[in-house]
Amino acid sequence: MSSAPRPLQTVAIDLGDRSYPIHIGSGLLAQPALLDALPAAQTALIVTNTTVAPFYEARLAETLGARFKRVLSVRLPDGEAHKDWASLNQIFDALLGQGCDRKTVLFALGGGVVGDMTGFAAACYMRGVPFVQVPTTLLAQVDSSVGGKTAINHPLGKNMIGAFYQPLLVLADLDTLDTLPERELSAGLAEVIKYGPIADAGFLDWIEANLDAMRARDKAALAHAVQRSCEIKAWVVGQDERESGLRAILNFGHTFGHAIEAGLGYGEWLHGEAVGCGMVMASELSVRLGLMPADFVERMRRLVERAGLPVVGPALGVERYMELMRVDKKSEAGEIRFVVIEALGRAGVRGAPDALVAGVIGAHTA
Ligand code: NAD
Ligand code: GLY
Repeated sequence: MSSAPRPLQTVAIDLGDRSYPIHIGSGLLAQPALLDALPAAQTALIVTNTTVAPFYEARLAETLGARFKRVLSVRLPDGEAHKDWASLNQIFDALLGQGCDRKTVLFALGGGVVGDMTGFAAACYMRGVPFVQVPTTLLAQVDSSVGGKTAINHPLGKNMIGAFYQPLLVLADLDTLDTLPERELSAGLAEVIKYGPIADAGFLDWIEANLDAMRARDKAALAHAVQRSCEIKAWVVGQDERESGLRAILNFGHTFGHAIEAGLGYGEWLHGEAVGCGMVMASELSVRLGLMPADFVERMRRLVERAGLPVVGPALGVERYMELMRVDKKSEAGEIRFVVIEALGRAGVRGAPDALVAGVIGAHTA
């Protein structure tokens, strides 16, 4: 009897007729049965990049071959700097060049960059074709592949051109994390950590107790981290798909983080690294606003540092931080809005006096 690996866990995203499952487990790339729920189609297009393709493209293509007549692929250049119109056009060129119809299913095989671009291409091609997320970084498995935010960058702002467009399915194969560079694993841990303070104090305790296991790529620990993160994200997105309110809490640490990324130039610090450091700053802001006890900052600083992430922001200067944070999508009429922790496991979004924010930046930058 064959012993095909089974998905360890399935988390449901409940969005009415746009609902979909997230399967989390080992060996998922080699399980054609997981594709049974997809609509009938002739063609699959794997969108991946030059780094991920040599590891996983053939495995996925073989599995898709059992379900689709034609399995095509397009390999994009790697990196945040290529999350742009040129890469998007490469996807459209492949689709149009191969005569792909509107039933063609796109498979995003890679990290958040590939996932965000593939989703946006799927939203646009022939006004919308189905797509599947196959996230291969921890960050993509716990965050970017779930919830339907898709985008490319504009030289004047990150993720500024995009659409909300949900996948039909997410396949989070934990085995793909085996080849992930250490630095990328740490970057993904930043997004895992954020779910604790914003939504689940017990999960924060669990992360503290299991951080070393996750860094050692213990599959059971990673499976739980991905599952709980996806459950929390599903709970948030299920209530506020288009970020008219609650969903903004998923951006804990991101306002400071985006300023770091943009200020240094995209790619200097990884997104997760900037978010990790940004969470320390946002924790400090929560304390200075009188919402959290002083020891919360040290708790978060230690955890972020143990995850292998930077905890001291670059010396961009207070004015530059402020200028960059005003471009954030949460800003309203020029006022910067921050995600703050109001109690362990509960977050809110609010403005803060410039002097207070300047103090936070001064306390946590080089
Ligand atoms: P990434 O996609 O750049 O991947 C990181 C690096 O790891 C790349 O070099 C990639 O080629 C490589 N890689 C991917 N999988 C690998 C594997 N299994 N083995 C070896 N190497 C592998 O970065 P990321 O951290 O996954 O994603 C960051 C992006 O996600 C940013 O653009 C960010 O804006 C976006 N994001 C989107 C959302 C959302 O909700 N849509 C949420 C968070 C972040
Ligand atoms: N990563 C933030 C969001 O999905 O809303």
